Formats: sequence, structure tokens, C-alpha cells
Amino acid sequence: MTLHLAIPRRMLQKRFKMAAACVLFLLMCTVLYHGFPSSAEERLERGANELVEEIRKMEHKIKTLEQGKKTYPEVKFLTYKDRKRILITGGAGFVGSHLVDSLMMQGHEVTVVDNFFTGRKRNVEHWVGHENFEMLHHDIVNPLYIEVDQIYHLASPASPPNYMYNPIKTLKTNTLGTINMLGLAKRVRARLLLASTSEVYGDPELHPQNEDYWGHVNPIGPRACYDEGKRVAETMCYAYEKQENVEVRVARIFNTFGPRMHMNDGRVVSNFILQALQNESITVYGEGEQTRSFQYVSDLVDGLMLLMNSNFSQPVNLGNPEEHTIMEFAEIILSMVGGGSKIVKKTAMEDDPQRRKPDISRAMKYLGWKPMVPLKLGLNKTIAYFHNELRRSRHSERNFHMPQVFQV
Ligand SMILES: NC(=O)c1ccc[n+]([C@@H]2O[C@H](COP(=O)([O-])OP(=O)(O)OC[C@H]3O[C@@H](n4cnc5c(N)ncnc54)[C@H](O)[C@@H]3O)[C@@H](O)[C@H]2O)c1
Repeated sequence: MTLHLAIPRRMLQKRFKMAAACVLFLLMCTVLYHGFPSSAEERLERGANELVEEIRKMEHKIKTLEQGKKTYPEVKFLTYKDRKRILITGGAGFVGSHLVDSLMMQGHEVTVVDNFFTGRKRNVEHWVGHENFEMLHHDIVNPLYIEVDQIYHLASPASPPNYMYNPIKTLKTNTLGTINMLGLAKRVRARLLLASTSEVYGDPELHPQNEDYWGHVNPIGPRACYDEGKRVAETMCYAYEKQENVEVRVARIFNTFGPRMHMNDGRVVSNFILQALQNESITVYGEGEQTRSFQYVSDLVDGLMLLMNSNFSQPVNLGNPEEHTIMEFAEIILSMVGGGSKIVKKTAMEDDPQRRKPDISRAMKYLGWKPMVPLKLGLNKTIAYFHNELRRSRHSERNFHMPQVFQV
């Protein structure tokens, strides 16, 4: 016997009525709560009004957040006696911006001067508005009159595509610009540190390169505007030291990498990381047997500050003596990034130095400095930075920037 036949008809009717009453009651409650939806148009209008109200609330929240006080990383407090006024030319660039971070964190007053040829405001944006920080849009080819105690002179395009883009301007920046900064140092009795380069050794015949080596530079080759520009900048420093008693420091910087380096500067590390991240062929020029040694940017910044505050005025190599062939770099980066890129060999570049490795005995002896950051740790941070930059450039959030201080 089936169940429904077991329930009497009157009972079924009663249950049906009760269910209908419940549905009617719920319907009335809904109507009372929301009002009578007289038409679809009205319902749509109500929905739109609710949305507008939500947007208004969110706009209010954003406005309140924007009006909020900007927060800065906590900097050390230095008394007037210990606090220095420090000028960094090229301070919005890759190395300069990391130097800004370190000097700001130490509690000094920092002024950045940059013409933003290769530098970016966002590299130092996190300090804008801080009472110890100032940024001047200025080209150092023109004189500058400010009061400072120390000058880190970094302004100069640094990668081949950038310095070859306008060779005459590169020469002017390194010659006229350096004269202007030395003139300023003389006038205000400031100490000046020149960011020179391992390129002053050209394609070296001595290996590894120590500071007594005079170099092997082609004075009319495509790299000459930079190599000879830096060589004459060094000459100017020692002429000002001898003739005008200006205190100078000269750092011969070897290849450096890290976050905030230029994505498209055509240098080995950035090229290989970008190509691997985008699953493109990794291009090695020549056989890949030429060697390079790369230091992580925080090691360089430590070395620059030690040199500036030392009593040693002769040129000092700052670089990582751990030497790898270009082919090895390609393989290391490929294995760290993963993906399906292939290593492809292309025609060797003109005047490309075959071997590059610093002798850092001088830095170790006089500054107690040597690189501390292992290659893979530095590469990891740089790969993460590039990965983020690529994601940003493809994403709708590309115009949204979260300022960041990098620390190892
Ligand atoms: N990064 C390296 O591997 C490396 C190696 C050797 C030497 N260096 C030296 O270190 C310094 C910094 O290099 P980087 O890698 O940070 O390069 P970068 O291009 O990121 O920084 C250079 C900065 O100088 C600015 N600049 C250029 N010309 C200027 C001018 N006429 N007036 C004002 N500002 C100007 C640029 O806008 C940029 O902000 C350079 O002098 C470079 O020669 C760097």
C-alpha cells in the first residue's frame, strides 16, 4: 500500500492550506520589508541606487586614506653634530636610490640631484616629504649652488645602450658635470666621492685587475665616451685634490645588480632574467667564454659609504671577485627561473671586454670591505623584482605603485 493512500484526504487538504498560508505570510513579509515592486524599472532603479550608495561609501574611505599622513621607514636620530648634509648626484638611479635608502636610514640629510635621464622618481618616492630628504630636478652639466658636507657623485648613464645613446652628453656629464661637482666641493669644503668604473681598465691585459693597472682602452671606440669620460673624471678629481686641496675618494665599481636596475639596459643580468621570465631565447654574444663578476647592490653601497668615510684617497676597486663565464650565468639564471628558454649564441660585440675580475685586496686592507651577499641570494631578489615589474606592466594595476625600501 502506498503512503498517500494511507493519509486521509481531509488531513491532506489541511496541510495544503497551512503551507499556502506560510507562503503568503512570507510574501507579505518580503513586500512589507522591501516595499511593493510596482515594476521592473523600479526594481532596477533601486538596485542602481544601492550601488551608488556603496560607491559613495568606498570613495569616502579612499579619500580618508589619501588624506592620512604618509608614513616613512623609521630613521635613526642623529644629533646636529653627527648628522651630515649629503648630496647624491644621480640619486634617483639604480645604485643611487639604494645609497639614498642607507644614508636616510642612518639619519643623515640627503639631497638627490637628478635629470631623470635613466633615473626614476619612483625609486626614491618613499622618501618624498620626509624632513631629511630633498629632490632636485637638475642637470649637473649646469652649476649647482647648495650647502653640503659630502657629495656622492654618481650621475652618469651607466649601461652601454644608455651611454651610447648620446655620446656627447655622456662626455659632458662626466667632464663638465664632474668639474661642476668638484667646484661645489671646493666652495663648500665638502668631500667628493666619484663613482668611477672598471671600464677605466678597458679590455684588460692584466687579470685580475688591481688599481695600479693603467688600463687598455680604445679612445675612439663606441665605449670611449663612457670609458674615457670616467678616466678624465678621475684625473679631474686628483687635479682638484692636488691644486685645490679638495678631499676626493674614487670608487672603481665593477658590475652590479639588484632590484631597481633597469629592465631594458641590455646588460647581462637584466637581459638573461627578462628573457628567462618571458620564455624567450637567452642570447649569449660570442662563445660565452668571456667572464664577468657581479656584486649585489647592497655590498656596493656598504663599500661606497666605507670609502667615503675612510682616510684613503687613492682609487679603490669595489666588486665581487667571484668570476663566472657568461655561459655559466645564463645557465644559473635559467635554472633559477625555470621555464623553457633555450640558450642561443649571437655574434660577439665590438670592444666587449673578455675578462673582468676585480682584485679587491686594497678594499679589504683599507676599508675592511668584501662582498657578503651570495650570488644566488642576490639573484633571487632581483628575479622577484623583475617578475613583479613584468606583472605590473601587463596588469591593470601598473599605475599603482607601493613604495618600497629594499633590505638584504
Ligand atoms: N651599475 C653598475 O654596474 C655600475 C658599474 C660601474 C660604474 N657604475 C657607476 O655608478 C653610477 C650609477 O650607476 P647606475 O647603475 O645606478 O646607473 P643609473 O643610470 O641607474 O643611474 C645614473 C643616474 O644619473 C642620472 N643622470 C645621468 N646624467 C645626468 C646629468 N647630466 N645630470 C643629473 N643626473 C644625471 C640618471 O638619470 C640616473 O638617475 C654611474 O656613475 C655609473 O657609471 C655603475
